[in-house]
Order: sequence, then C-alpha cells, then structure tokens
Amino acid sequence: MDKFVIRGGNPLVGVIRVSGAKNSALPCMAAAILTEDEVTLENIPQVRDIETERKLLQSMGAEVGLREGEAQDRTTICCRNLSDPVARYEIVKTMRASSLVLGPLIARTGMARVAMPGGCAIGGRPIDLHIRGLEKMGATITQEHGYLEARADRLRGAHLVFDKITVTGTEDLLMAAVLAEGETLMEKCAREPEVTDLAALLTAMGAQIEGAGTSTIRVQGVSRLHGARHSINPDRIEAGTFLVAGAITGGDLVVSNCNPTHLGAVIAKLREAGAIVDVLGPDEVRVRSGGPLRAADISTEEYPGFPTDMQAQYMALATQAEGVSMVRENIFENRFMHVQELVRMGANIKVDGSVATVRGPARLSAAAVMCSDLRASASLVLGALVADGESILDRVYHMDRGYERIEEKLRGVGAQIRRLGNLFPPREDE
Ligand code: UD1
Repeated sequence: MDKFVIRGGNPLVGVIRVSGAKNSALPCMAAAILTEDEVTLENIPQVRDIETERKLLQSMGAEVGLREGEAQDRTTICCRNLSDPVARYEIVKTMRASSLVLGPLIARTGMARVAMPGGCAIGGRPIDLHIRGLEKMGATITQEHGYLEARADRLRGAHLVFDKITVTGTEDLLMAAVLAEGETLMEKCAREPEVTDLAALLTAMGAQIEGAGTSTIRVQGVSRLHGARHSINPDRIEAGTFLVAGAITGGDLVVSNCNPTHLGAVIAKLREAGAIVDVLGPDEVRVRSGGPLRAADISTEEYPGFPTDMQAQYMALATQAEGVSMVRENIFENRFMHVQELVRMGANIKVDGSVATVRGPARLSAAAVMCSDLRASASLVLGALVADGESILDRVYHMDRGYERIEEKLRGVGAQIRRLGNLFPPREDE
C-alpha cells in the first residue's frame, strides 16, 4: 500500500496548477450514456475515480478511450451499444458516485440495474432522493440481491421537490429529465458549479434546461440528444486545498487554472484567518502570508457556502491559528475522522457532535498517521507540511481517488514529499 513521506517546514512558493474537477467529470461521463453519438470531454483529471467510471461505462458496452496522439486529459465516450446496462457491485462498491448512471440508463435504455452503493466512511449517504424522483417520473424501482432494478417505457416530466439538497441527486434526475416526455420542474436543487457544468454539457448535447446553478431548474424533455465536446471546470476543492497549503506554510503561492468565482467562501475565510489572497485574473489566485494566522469559525453549507469538502483541510489550518476556531459540519455526520490523526500530530481539537473546537496555534510534530477518506487525507498532508520532522501517511489511495499527482505538484512548489510503493487498491467514494 502506498505511503507518503513528508518532511514539514518548507513554505510553498511558486505556481501550482489545478486539474479538472473530479466531481464535474463524473456526472459528465455518465451523461454520455444519454446519446448514441460520441461525447468528448477535456480537462479530465487523471485520478482513480475517473478510472473507475471508465471501467463502469466500458462494462456496460461503451467505448471509452483516448484517441492516438490526444492529450491524456481528454476522453472520448461512445455509448452506441449499451449491451449491458448494469452497474455491478464490484465497481459500485469502490465509488459511490456510480449511482449517477441510474438516471441516464433508465432515460436512454428504459432499464437499469445498479448495485446499491455500500456504506461509506463519511456517513450513511443514502440515495433515497434519487429513487423517489425517478419513481415520480414513472420508473418502477425494485430492490433485490443488493441491486436496484429500474424500468420505465419512457420517463415522464414531473414536479420534483428535493427534501434535502443533494448534488448527485440533482445531477442524476437532471440527466433523467432531459430525455423525459414533457416538462420537469425541479425545486430545492443543488447550486454547485458541478451541476452547472453538467447542464452546460447537456445543453451542448441538445437538452433544453433553464435555471441550472439556481435552486429551481426547468427542463423540457427532448426525444434524442447528440454528441458534443465539453471542457470540464477546474477543481475548486483541489484549488482550495492548494490555497490552504500556501497559507498554512506561510508561503507565496499562485494557484493557476482555477476559477476564483467558485472559491468565494474559501477565499473569504482565508482572509479572515489573516492570509493575503489576491485574485490575479479569471483563472489565478495568489495566497501569501499576512503574519500569524488568526482563528476563524467555519460552518459547512451547500454552495455558495463553505464546502464540506474543504472542512478537513481548513481544520488543519485552524490548528495553526491563534485562538479558538469552531468548525461545524452540517452536511455529513461522521466527517471528523481526520481529527484523531491531527491530534496524534499534536493538535488541540475537541469534538462534540457536529462541532469541533480547535485551539491554536499548536506545534505539530511528525507522526505516522492513517488516511481515512479523500479530504481527510488532504488535511493530514497539510498538517504534515508544517509538522516538525518526517511524517508518514498510510493509505494514500484515498488521496489518489481525487487528487492528481498531488506529490509531484506539491514538490514543484517546494514541499518535501515523496511516495513509497506503487499500489493503489480502490476504496469507497467520498
Ligand atoms: C457530492 C460530492 C461530495 C460532496 C457532497 C456535498 C460528488 C461525486 N460528490 O456528494 O464530494 O461532499 O456532494 O457537497 O459530486 N442525501 C440523502 N438522500 C439522498 C442523497 C443525499 O439523504 O438521496 C443526504 C446525504 O446523506 C447528505 C446530504 O444529503 O447528508 C448531501 O449529500 P449529497 O449532496 O447527495 O452528496 P453527494 O452528491 O453524494
């Protein structure tokens, strides 16, 4: 199993480039199911979850690949022959976002068999809202032997109101609605940039969608979609992680190929904590030290609030800030697994339910620590970058699910980080 060895103490200086967003690429790849034509996606990150999605689509009969001479971050998907519309457990168990194929499969083929996603480290994470929405659109869904089996001759437009805001739920039902008969009105939708990115691809494929990026989305179903070419948004969570890396190490870092408009809550919080953050242009943000870090509270919320996927990384920063920071996690229960590892490195953090109280600044000392999920791993990398001595992070396969060549990128701006081993067994989704 791969490990990272990180020696702390170096301020990160230079330019670090952000890859495409994993959480946009996953639904966009699933959207290719909706057409017989070819869909070409650019700015695809080279991470394990994307490999898993490629395998999933291939296992259903799709042709997924790179054309000779094409850039690694481009992928072409052709779902002309979906001979086997089944998402098998062996694949789904490694990536919960596999449930994103449910809506498009029913819409395109009239049937889907999708293994129920397994339990996940960061909470129960049900998909009841996906199921309820599809049923409202006329699908019959049964559950047997750990699989959901869904059937519908043709989905019908419906009025869908989400009980709870769900990102992949909004995406799944949006993909179902674009080929449904008539109008679908979706309320209390997720407003995340990943939903907007998917809607842009679907629109380029001929879908009729209004309101993506707001809480109300209206879709006029069409009978057929065509191929398209689309470039995936930059990854706002990877960008946010790099901004924290610059701030926590007291460095001077330019985060390039990002979209600053997607980073509003993170940038505002870093400024409140005392870092100097300048938006240099439409795709660049500079972060540098503005003196000692100060405590600032965060509370995770749906977009445009502070992202839950940045909570763990922010907590690493809070350990270095003067004063008491309250970190409230509102989206997922059980998303504090990084806490005990940060504490082992010397952080002063107490958890009470959904609130963690962080007292700083704490002198972190290098330790052997264990990554438990994707963003928890990022928080441990950040802690290790400022710890005294050489830390060893175990189970970095969690990190590889969502961060492209993170150790190379960090090394390029002065971090002392190296990888041991080269095995990446897959694990469950974030
Ligand atoms: C997506 C992101 C993940 C991010 C999360 C919240 C992807 C692949 N993953 O996950 O990185 O942390 O958004 O920003 O895009 N819920 C239900 N029933 C459902 C669906 C969700 O109760 O059918 C609950 C969940 O348990 C959770 C909340 O709704 O408490 C939000 O979950 P959701 O937005 O669906 O997260 P994901 O889409 O799985």
